[in-house]
Amino acid sequence: MKLSSAFRALLTSALFGSAAVAQFASGEWSLVQDGTSGVSALEMAVVSETTVMILDKVEHNPLQTTGHFAWGAELDLITRTVRPLNPTSNTWCGTGSFLSNGTMVSSGGHRVVLTGNNGLAAVRLFDPCEDKNCDIIEDENQRRMASLRWYPSSVRLEDGSALIMGGSWENNIIDMPNITNPTYEFFPPKNIHGQNGTPIYSQFIHDALNANHFPILIQLPDGNLFVAANQMSMIFDWKTNQEIMRLPNFPNGVRVTSPLSAGATLLPLTPENNYTPEVLICGGSSISDELVHWSRGATDSQAPTSDQCVRMVLNEEGIAKGWEVDHMPVPRIMAELVLLPDGRVIMVNGARTGIAGYGTSFNPIGDSDCDNPVFNPVLYDPSAPLGERFTEDGLPVSDVARMYHSTATMTPNGTILLAGSNPNDDVTTVKWGTEYRLEWLDPPYMQHTRPTYTGLPETFDYNQTVALDIDIPEGAQNVSAVIMDFGFATHAVHMDQRLVGLVSELSDDKTQLTITGPPSPTIYSPGPAFVFVLVDGVPSFGHKTLIGTGAQPPFDQGAFNNVMSQQPLYWDQWMIVHKDDAAADEDKLFSTLSGPASTPTGY
Ligand SMILES: *[C@@H]1O[C@H](CO)[C@@H](O)[C@H](O)[C@H]1NC(C)=O
Ligand SMILES: *[C@@H]1O[C@H](CO)[C@@H](O)[C@H](O)[C@H]1NC(C)=O
Ligand SMILES: *[C@@H]1O[C@H](CO)[C@@H](O)[C@H](O)[C@H]1NC(C)=O
Ligand SMILES: *[C@@H]1O[C@H](CO)[C@@H](O)[C@H](O)[C@H]1NC(C)=O
Ligand SMILES: *[C@@H]1O[C@H](CO)[C@@H](O)[C@H](O)[C@H]1NC(C)=O
Repeated sequence: MKLSSAFRALLTSALFGSAAVAQFASGEWSLVQDGTSGVSALEMAVVSETTVMILDKVEHNPLQTTGHFAWGAELDLITRTVRPLNPTSNTWCGTGSFLSNGTMVSSGGHRVVLTGNNGLAAVRLFDPCEDKNCDIIEDENQRRMASLRWYPSSVRLEDGSALIMGGSWENNIIDMPNITNPTYEFFPPKNIHGQNGTPIYSQFIHDALNANHFPILIQLPDGNLFVAANQMSMIFDWKTNQEIMRLPNFPNGVRVTSPLSAGATLLPLTPENNYTPEVLICGGSSISDELVHWSRGATDSQAPTSDQCVRMVLNEEGIAKGWEVDHMPVPRIMAELVLLPDGRVIMVNGARTGIAGYGTSFNPIGDSDCDNPVFNPVLYDPSAPLGERFTEDGLPVSDVARMYHSTATMTPNGTILLAGSNPNDDVTTVKWGTEYRLEWLDPPYMQHTRPTYTGLPETFDYNQTVALDIDIPEGAQNVSAVIMDFGFATHAVHMDQRLVGLVSELSDDKTQLTITGPPSPTIYSPGPAFVFVLVDGVPSFGHKTLIGTGAQPPFDQGAFNNVMSQQPLYWDQWMIVHKDDAAADEDKLFSTLSGPASTPTGY
């Protein structure tokens, strides 16, 4: 009979009455400022064991590349230095997801450029390397989306492809009926729902106007998607294009997506909880999303934000119970919810007042539409009883404001990387300025003797068993393993972030841990994962593998050709709006960019 290690630990303590097993490592947190990002970290994703991809918008960053200002960089986690990356179009407010073969897909962006191309329909590929010899591969004549998307989200599916949803085809801080793109599409494109690669209408995204930018997308263990936007959420079957059900609105009128951004994450899926999905959404704002409130000069940088955290178990019983309401110690917009390997959630970044944007309020701070940065991280223990889940005690307080256009991510060594903040059109030092300083938040486990292991293969298939050689401290009681997707962070949305507990078994001599791959591609989509061995709450370094076989996602040549044979949808409207591109740029949003917006190339 096979017993999971957690169950064995329970059994051991029941049988032998041993002291309670430590679930979390004890000790002090620390926060260190070290290194700079070269470009402002608007989008961020760990791409290898030692590197992080950082994308910004086109602006006058200190980092340069091939004769122009860089708006992408790769951070080396060991030396904490950056080298420029060179996307050819503006990545401003695009999304990102990895595919099953480990390639990162960055999609969407913006038209404004100092150099390069319109990024509204861009698809950029990045194959991670550790030798500084890789760059973003981008050519709109080789691959692109079927429609224009600024502020979309994406999610990696069970077949290893990415579903890309929402956004606008023209810029405005809040979505509007005349610019919205209430559709979804896939990369690689699919011939599905009567659309041969072209976008599929989403009634939900349409109904979620106006505050529906960067919808929250989470793949559930039954293969459906959880989708949240504005005050609404639903369970969606992308394979049949059916809304399975709409869930009750978020309580107390709280809106959760940009520009009223909340943070969200799927809580850990483990063998112990039978991979039962539960979502956590924290913060946001309950101010009006009516357009009259958003006309320039009407929003308020001092507007209150929400301290509400809601949770729901996404099964019949949990949905019947409705949203469970909890409260953070302080209200926040743009809270980043980062999963720790030990199953807790750390909340960082964000602001106590205002909205996620710049250049729209009547009382901006500099250009910032948000103010009162939240400097203290909050730790959340999902397993604690309601009312006892938040801790601020002992968490180091930063003095770096990280508000609009800031990011955070877990890293393979267990440190949380904090970066960015730039509620401005272009690089500035006025309050609240462009932030390049990096901070590293170390949980107490960083100071403990870390378990180590070897023997992880490059690919790790479903239900495959792998015997890791482990080196764990004397007296270890609870040994387990988890896989993590650190996700792609932007605008407080962490695309694809998840933690899945593995079934594991410790050898009698405690030198081997046999881990079993996740049971299905709906529980963990095929693609990159970082594997942590945990000993009494202390994680090892998270080595990287590819869950599944590393195969490419399905590629439909016909759908791909169809996308490439036509101009992206809304391109005609876009061209009407921009027939006089220069005049269109009188928009204050872009007035400080010295270079004129160039005429888009291609398509
Ligand atoms: C959309 O409508 C708003 C006002 O409702 C208007 O100011 C804006 O110019 C319109 N945009 C486009 C692209 O038609
Ligand atoms: C063992 O550790 C895992 C991972 O930290 C945790 O989920 C589990 O509750 C622990 N079990 C016991 C008995 O403490
Ligand atoms: C990981 O963190 C530990 C501190 O716990 C440090 O000693 C080690 O050098 C780090 N390793 C890497 C690869 O960053
Ligand atoms: C993995 O094993 C579980 C339990 O035996 C089974 O339900 C599941 O179908 C298997 N998954 C795959 C992908 O074979
Ligand atoms: C991964 O798959 C995508 C989509 O088919 C493809 O464009 C990309 O080149 C592949 N990456 C590698 C490393 O083969």
